Amino acid sequence: MCDNLLDPTHVAWVHQSSFAADATKDTPLRIKKTDEGVIVHRWMMDHEPAPFYKKVVEFDGNCDRLQHYEVRYPSHALVKAVFTPAGTGGPDGPLHENTFIMDSYNFMTPTTEGQTRYYWFQLRNIRPEDEALSQMMSEDVQHAFEEDRAVLNAVQVGMSNKSSPHIDLPIDGGQLRFRRQLQAMINEEREVDKQMAE
Ligand SMILES: [Fe+2]
Repeated sequence: MCDNLLDPTHVAWVHQSSFAADATKDTPLRIKKTDEGVIVHRWMMDHEPAPFYKKVVEFDGNCDRLQHYEVRYPSHALVKAVFTPAGTGGPDGPLHENTFIMDSYNFMTPTTEGQTRYYWFQLRNIRPEDEALSQMMSEDVQHAFEEDRAVLNAVQVGMSNKSSPHIDLPIDGGQLRFRRQLQAMINEEREVDKQMAE
């Protein structure tokens, strides 16, 4: 689940009807390790908004889009989406008064080695009183989650019944950093527990 939440590229293949655009396939990722976790992010400049966002942004024409995928130890994620009219985005962009921002907060609570409960909610910066918009966004995000679920359940089966070696690609850099640091924290905690018991 945390791998998925550190992978902005999966939307190009898993969420074609909602969050995907051509730019989500091939724009390079930037990876940042922080004290609390890992951030994988990228700005995609001057492209048509993906279908879901086209319905909600309050401007016409192309956009600059930020995907900010951040997971904090052990399993909390902040996914931030920024859509601003083309020419106003980028790391130093001035943004625009009609910039659309959606933050989603995701909380995983593992129940067994192969299962987790997954809680989430999302916030937006436009029309907070618009119930129809809230409803539409909730339904679309739920629909997108079902697309993730189908893929992630298959991934879990593959990981639990490994029949070939694991192949890590450069695109997996964020997830690998997160996994390694988390494992190091688990090892340290075990060591401390052991020493306390002695
Ligand atoms: Fe997804």
